[in-house]
Amino acid sequence: MEERVRRTIEQVRAFIADKPDAWALPEEAARFLHAWILATGAKRGLEIGTSYGWSGLWLGSALRANGGSLITIDVEPRKSRVALSHFQQAGLSTHIEVVTGDAAAAIKDLAGPFDFVLNDADKAGSRRYFDLLLHKMLPRGAFISDNAISHAGAFDGFLSHVQSREDFYSVTVPVGNGFEIAVKVS
Ligand SMILES: C[S@@+](CC[C@H](N)C(=O)[O-])C[C@H]1O[C@@H](n2cnc3c(N)ncnc32)[C@H](O)[C@@H]1O
Repeated sequence: MEERVRRTIEQVRAFIADKPDAWALPEEAARFLHAWILATGAKRGLEIGTSYGWSGLWLGSALRANGGSLITIDVEPRKSRVALSHFQQAGLSTHIEVVTGDAAAAIKDLAGPFDFVLNDADKAGSRRYFDLLLHKMLPRGAFISDNAISHAGAFDGFLSHVQSREDFYSVTVPVGNGFEIAVKVS
């Protein structure tokens, strides 16, 4: 990882430490996704739920290393602005596009295709986001939902839905708050 990104991650770690509304991924989970992207060679990333850009730094830097880029969406303009400043500081703003707005509306405007999606906004919206992205996912692309263990009940049946689909292989991974990793297999 580039020194400039590493230094920004350290600063953002300190920045979010006293922000109760950061709801940031635990570091081990962010590191896991960074490794996942590097290992799979994913290039076309989407994050639903930017917050202050903590996870975006980990995702965007891995996607850039693969020759790709990230689009990240958050409904709060204040958070989007702060996240963008973090991406600029890390030298990643040419590879991360910050979209401000409601996720469902924003996703409808995105052409895709995507081979990596981190679903980390309102959990109840998961089924809607998944349905909107279904035909924008590349084969072997992953739709990864955070909080699959810590807030399983908040997903309104989405987790069992994705686990029962034949066109996705889905597994719950006990990293951080728990990821549901749904890989498009057909
Ligand atoms: C769990 S936090 C994201 C944390 C971030 N991924 C990280 O690890 O640094 C969830 C974010 O989703 C945003 N959010 C909630 N509902 C949303 C919606 N309907 N559309 C877009 N963003 C939404 C919130 O503003 C919040 O910043």
